[in-house]
Amino acid sequence: MSDIYWRKIQHLEIVVNRDVDFKDRCEEYFRDIILIHQAIPGFRRDDVDTSTRFLGYELKAPVMITGITGGARETLDVNRRLAQIASQHGIALGLGSQRPILTSNFNREVVETYRVARDTAPNIPLIGNIGFNTLKTLGVQEVKQLVDSVRADALAVHLNPAQEAIQPEGDTDFSLETLSVLREVAREVGVPILVKEVGNGLSYEVVRKITAETGVKIFDVAGACGTSWVKVEMYRTADDVRKHVAQVIGEWGIPTPVSIIETRLASPDSTIIASGGVWDGLRAVKSLALGADMAGFAKPVLTRLLKEGFESASRFVAEYVESMKTVMFLVGAEKLGDLRRIPVVVGPVLRNYVSSRGFSLDKYLEMLRK
Ligand SMILES: Cc1cc2nc3c(=O)[nH]c(=O)nc-3n(C[C@H](O)[C@H](O)[C@H](O)COP(=O)(O)O)c2cc1C
Repeated sequence: MSDIYWRKIQHLEIVVNRDVDFKDRCEEYFRDIILIHQAIPGFRRDDVDTSTRFLGYELKAPVMITGITGGARETLDVNRRLAQIASQHGIALGLGSQRPILTSNFNREVVETYRVARDTAPNIPLIGNIGFNTLKTLGVQEVKQLVDSVRADALAVHLNPAQEAIQPEGDTDFSLETLSVLREVAREVGVPILVKEVGNGLSYEVVRKITAETGVKIFDVAGACGTSWVKVEMYRTADDVRKHVAQVIGEWGIPTPVSIIETRLASPDSTIIASGGVWDGLRAVKSLALGADMAGFAKPVLTRLLKEGFESASRFVAEYVESMKTVMFLVGAEKLGDLRRIPVVVGPVLRNYVSSRGFSLDKYLEMLRK
């Protein structure tokens, strides 16, 4: 098995079996988003409506399984099952990096490990995936071919400098020139581009640059609260120096709630997916009330799928959406749009972080409510 396929299998195995979660900092940031209980919500729990539109599809809930896998033969079944789950619950699905398709020169069997998702679920938004640093080596036609090969509705471009810095075979050339490639791709490729991190968060500065230079309008913050890719790569590398660096920066990154605010401030009218430890319906609703449009997750659904099976993974999504609905009921939000009108109290940790970055949280919340 060539290295890139083996790596995909190793990633699944490590994420599911090792301790790769952020520990130290994130809980307090989510705790600091305080939603107010309304003892008379004004409608029935069953009337809560979480439906929304995304990439031209009607979703039952503003939820996405973000990019996980593809490439190795063993991943075909994972993508098939994730697609079944997404289809069952009417949510969006991201594919893992499509680099193996490139390195295999569009080998049919490799393509199939991704395209199985579309074949299984024609009724959901499907998002392709490629790395920012892979993009610089590609022309628009090749990117188009990549998107078409899996019949994706959009293409996610992932930014993962921390992961690449620890990965034994990592490519750390994240030069700004690649933004001009991204601009060209965004203009010419024919599907929307989504820019995502992989678990270290998007900052105001980065989103500003991307918005100004490429016109990209969809962001997945993938903040530092859930899966730490530095920790995942720490288990893979045999190099002691890299292992040490990974221990030093294992908790590196922008907490998801902060990243939501920074991304919204830098690109006020973009579509924002909150992910990175957004692992239950309460965190999802808090993220939406703080300015995100959708919530996403990767590890929890994958772990249930591989450890406990399809039913458990599917139940995770059902429980997630049901929790969202109950929280919306209790804060008096009958529709998703109402989440921008409910009161939100922000505690000192999150507030101080935002103000020390030079932003006013109160002005931000006011902006959201316009
Ligand atoms: C096993 C696994 C593989 C992943 N592979 C990719 C990938 O190929 N491309 C990508 O953009 N993100 C990838 N991710 C990152 C996720 O899309 C997500 O941004 C990150 O895991 C944070 O979400 P979480 O805390 O819910 O896991 C992967 C995540 C997991 C768990």
